Amino acid sequence: MTPTSAGTIPGLDQAPTTHQPLLDWVRETAALTTPERVVWCDGSREEWQTLTDQLVEAGTFVRLSQKPNSFWCVSDPDDVARVEDRSFICSKNEADAGPTNNWMDPLDMTIVMTEHYRGCMAGRTLYVIPFCMGPLTAENPQLGVQLTDSPYVVVSMHIMTRMGSKALTLFGDGTDTAAEFVRCLHSVGAPLKPGQEDVPWPCATTKYITHFPEDRMIWSYGSGYGGNALLGKKCYALRIASVIARDEGWLAEHMLILKLTSPAGKVHYIAAAFPSSCGKTNLAMLEPSIPGWKAETLGDDIAWMRFGDDGRLYATNPEAGFFGVAPGTGWKTNPNAMRTLYRGNSIYTNVALTDDGDVWWEGYSDAPPDHLTTWTRDDWTLTTDYARGRLAAHPNSRYCTPIAQCPIAAPEWNDPQGVPISAIFFGGRRATTIPLVVESRDWQHGVFLGATLSSETTAAATGQVGVVRRDPMAMLPFVGYHVGDYLQHWLDTGDHAHATQLPKIFYVNWFRRAGNNGGDGRFLWPGFSENSRVLKWAIDRLDGTATATETPIGLVPTPEALDLNGLDTPPDDVQAALTVDPDEWRAEIPLIEQWLATIGDKLPHALLDELEDLQHRLA
Ligand code: GDP
Ligand code: PGA
Ligand code: MN
Ligand code: MN
Repeated sequence: MTPTSAGTIPGLDQAPTTHQPLLDWVRETAALTTPERVVWCDGSREEWQTLTDQLVEAGTFVRLSQKPNSFWCVSDPDDVARVEDRSFICSKNEADAGPTNNWMDPLDMTIVMTEHYRGCMAGRTLYVIPFCMGPLTAENPQLGVQLTDSPYVVVSMHIMTRMGSKALTLFGDGTDTAAEFVRCLHSVGAPLKPGQEDVPWPCATTKYITHFPEDRMIWSYGSGYGGNALLGKKCYALRIASVIARDEGWLAEHMLILKLTSPAGKVHYIAAAFPSSCGKTNLAMLEPSIPGWKAETLGDDIAWMRFGDDGRLYATNPEAGFFGVAPGTGWKTNPNAMRTLYRGNSIYTNVALTDDGDVWWEGYSDAPPDHLTTWTRDDWTLTTDYARGRLAAHPNSRYCTPIAQCPIAAPEWNDPQGVPISAIFFGGRRATTIPLVVESRDWQHGVFLGATLSSETTAAATGQVGVVRRDPMAMLPFVGYHVGDYLQHWLDTGDHAHATQLPKIFYVNWFRRAGNNGGDGRFLWPGFSENSRVLKWAIDRLDGTATATETPIGLVPTPEALDLNGLDTPPDDVQAALTVDPDEWRAEIPLIEQWLATIGDKLPHALLDELEDLQHRLA
């Protein structure tokens, strides 16, 4: 990048820091992208007020009258989800990106993207967002700076991260002791010519979500959608952090963190990895249906896990907000999400708007209003559109809301020490084959279960929905390096020198359907609050008080071990949900083999051993 006349850009010289590497980078970026002005974000309430007012003025936001300090927003119809086919890991060696990531040579990518970035912020404001992933009080705070021309991104970062002045103080003064930070450059890629009117949701047809793992750098272009544009989330906290975690011996995972207290007052913390739109946020805000159990949330999407001095694996949530799937969220399914949203201070993207200034989406309430404005800004009526099954909200519409206002946020959610994890759950969305719950025999078998995790694709990423694919540890789109090395890293974690007590690994599936034998396709298991029954069994297994049966794929609850008191699901459905069908599993084997084969030379031998073992058990 060659600095040009950046010195004349208003705001550039009003930096609230003397951190020279940061100042240099902002100046270079401003010279390249030529914004109209530069704003250094402080994260204050005044800043939120100014920007949300401005977004309302611009027609991007509609202020809701029924929810305090909350806003409705719709995106460009072509910018509604993560773009996995446009996401790149630009490691120096192609082999380091592995078979599951798109790769381009970092220098080539830099050249291509520099041309896209040249002048791309014309007519817009360049916002500088210093942020910290994880608690500000961490011994080694994980810092980043996002440069963006999207005020939507700024206000979303207000919710999702610790940002602004409180983060900037952790950067130091720019001398050689200054802290390292991840450079996150983002543009919606929609420069404005002088006098050109803006659109409510600017974005570009060409999109790039690019990661330079060796340089700890992220370049994103063309999209305003959360997973592509809030760079602290998937790009930093998963793709870049997974590389840092590999190097430093910890784990950066696509997991919720949940605290469970038994009726006897015993506390267990669990983590669970499900692919996008497969139930993390809902489980994270669980309202247990079984009496006496208490659930509290620490995180709904990302867990960073390190061994503590006591040899246990401790998890922290790097985020400060929930970016949750709206459809399906209602008082019956997720009352704690509803309570969180009713407190306000939230941004809704691609849901429907009611005539009286509230939000609505499929599953929000049993009684939809007579009239709505859909996420495509079209009219929608109960009598015609609802009857025809026309959706008012996009299936991947999202709410963005602070964790701090969740009524069941665990008091320790902001503790930099994190919480010791007793059990890890892997799971996916499978209509067949995968039983409600399986316990792994040991760590290696548990890693095998995670490594072969499969799920139907969802609307969280662009592309076909409902196609079964392998999604190791629910990290397929997020591992920032070679997936074979990633799986080896998981195996190594089990042999970690400091490990005294490893979490027990389980595999769950809330989404098995009646249908194989002429059923109607209904879910066999009621899910949501009833999932507490499965968690209870798992915890009783940790405590040695529940029984299990050996099956070829692992341990499943004996019929009496799962607490079904008060459950009104037909017993046959529960039984069908728990079934391990050897025929279905024999059909699954070639799919697992095919997946493991794509990993190539770096496939850990231990996983092949596990596969062989599974085949023997099924024979
Ligand atoms: P996340 O993207 O992994 O956080 O998944 P969410 O918790 O947001 O859930 C995605 C979708 O799956 C939403 O429409 C939920 O209503 C639905 N869902 C979540 N948990 C369950 C469950 O236990 N059973 C069923 N049938 N659906 C669920
Ligand atoms: P999700 O998060 O896992 O809650 O869907 C967003 C994503 O993964 O894109
Ligand atoms: Mn996610
Ligand atoms: Mn979620």
